Amino acid sequence: MSDSRSLAARAGNLEELKAAIAAFEGCSLKATATNLVFGDGNPSARIMFVGEAPGADEDRLGKPFVGVSGQLLDRMIGCIGLDRGSAYITNILPWRPPGNRQPTASEIAACLPFVERHIELVNPTILVLVGGTSAKALLATSEGIMKLRGRWFMYRSSSRAQPIETMAIFHPAFLLRSPAQKREAWRDLIAIKSKYHK
Ligand code: URA
Repeated sequence: MSDSRSLAARAGNLEELKAAIAAFEGCSLKATATNLVFGDGNPSARIMFVGEAPGADEDRLGKPFVGVSGQLLDRMIGCIGLDRGSAYITNILPWRPPGNRQPTASEIAACLPFVERHIELVNPTILVLVGGTSAKALLATSEGIMKLRGRWFMYRSSSRAQPIETMAIFHPAFLLRSPAQKREAWRDLIAIKSKYHK
């Protein structure tokens, strides 16, 4: 069985990457999920959002961010002046963790090469990490979202020459539970908007 890194590296386009993930047997979440949730939106977008993992609605429909969190994410993307026709969305994990539990470190490690290759193939100029799980995994840090959000980072991938301007934002599911944080979230979105329209 090939490991995710070599499978991901061999994918020359998004269709091949999706097929490589579908054939991957190294993550047990595949066995409990109904659908592989790959991506949504415009693959030529200049901005890419990476969330955590599919929930029940996403698992049922095979699309990222289609439930209540997704409706708020759409409004957040709207705040930048964009929609799913001008942005691209995926997750760190392509399969739903049972009962929406937190993904484990080993599930994230097994699937990380796929999302890294996904970013390389979409090749955005701005990367938005939606929530702490995504931010920690892609920025390779143990710092929490409270510290990471609202700051610009340079995301570097192994095979991409140019680093990507990257910001972490609060996850919409967190904002639904803690609406008082929306003010900070909207400040971050306005910073992303300025960078995008620069
Ligand atoms: N939460 C996520 O992080 N991703 C989804 O696709 C849905 C909810």
